Amino acid sequence: MGVNDIQRVGVVGSGLMGHGIALAFAMGGYPVTMCDLDDERLLRAMRDASATATLFVEEGLITAEEAEAAIGRLLTTTDLAELAATSDFITEAIVERSEDKRALFNKLDELCPPHTIIVSNTSSLVLSDFGSDVKRQDRIAGDALLRATGDRARR
Ligand SMILES: NC(=O)c1ccc[n+]([C@@H]2O[C@H](COP(=O)([O-])OP(=O)(O)OC[C@H]3O[C@@H](n4cnc5c(N)ncnc54)[C@H](O)[C@@H]3O)[C@@H](O)[C@H]2O)c1
Repeated sequence: MGVNDIQRVGVVGSGLMGHGIALAFAMGGYPVTMCDLDDERLLRAMRDASATATLFVEEGLITAEEAEAAIGRLLTTTDLAELAATSDFITEAIVERSEDKRALFNKLDELCPPHTIIVSNTSSLVLSDFGSDVKRQDRIAGDALLRATGDRARR
């Protein structure tokens, strides 16, 4: 599957990073489903995404119409199976704990169709900390060590 085959994006964890990642994909034209543990967190994520989009408008980065369209592309669910069934590319942005990320990666591996790509927004872990049980080893990514190495190489 190539990048042009990605039709729908999923974001698991809708906190500080998750709502921003979801908004970035939505501004890029993708329908995005955010998943979190309860509706209250998802409501907050929608409010935060709207506030960020409004800020972008005020800063002249996007038009009001583009902001409205992006927010209109955001959906929410507490049902991981629903997100898994409808997303071609999933980013997780849940808490930075390897056991939580391992459980989530294994669950998504089980629930998602074979083509789905699953990536992590981890800031300090490496993929082998939580991704080693996943069967689709060619369709997972996210590695703070690689990012740090790349950052050093660019300096
Ligand atoms: N905050 C930053 O500046 C920053 C920068 C880079 C990377 N990161 C990484 O991004 C990830 C998220 O960080 P954050 O700051 O957004 O955290 P956060 O605490 O703001 O958000 C985490 C969200 O994940 C949800 N969550 C937890 N377990 C879940 C599960 N099993 N299923 C669904 N939702 C679940 C929580 O309810 C919460 O809404 C972490 O891995 C972190 O290391 C954070």
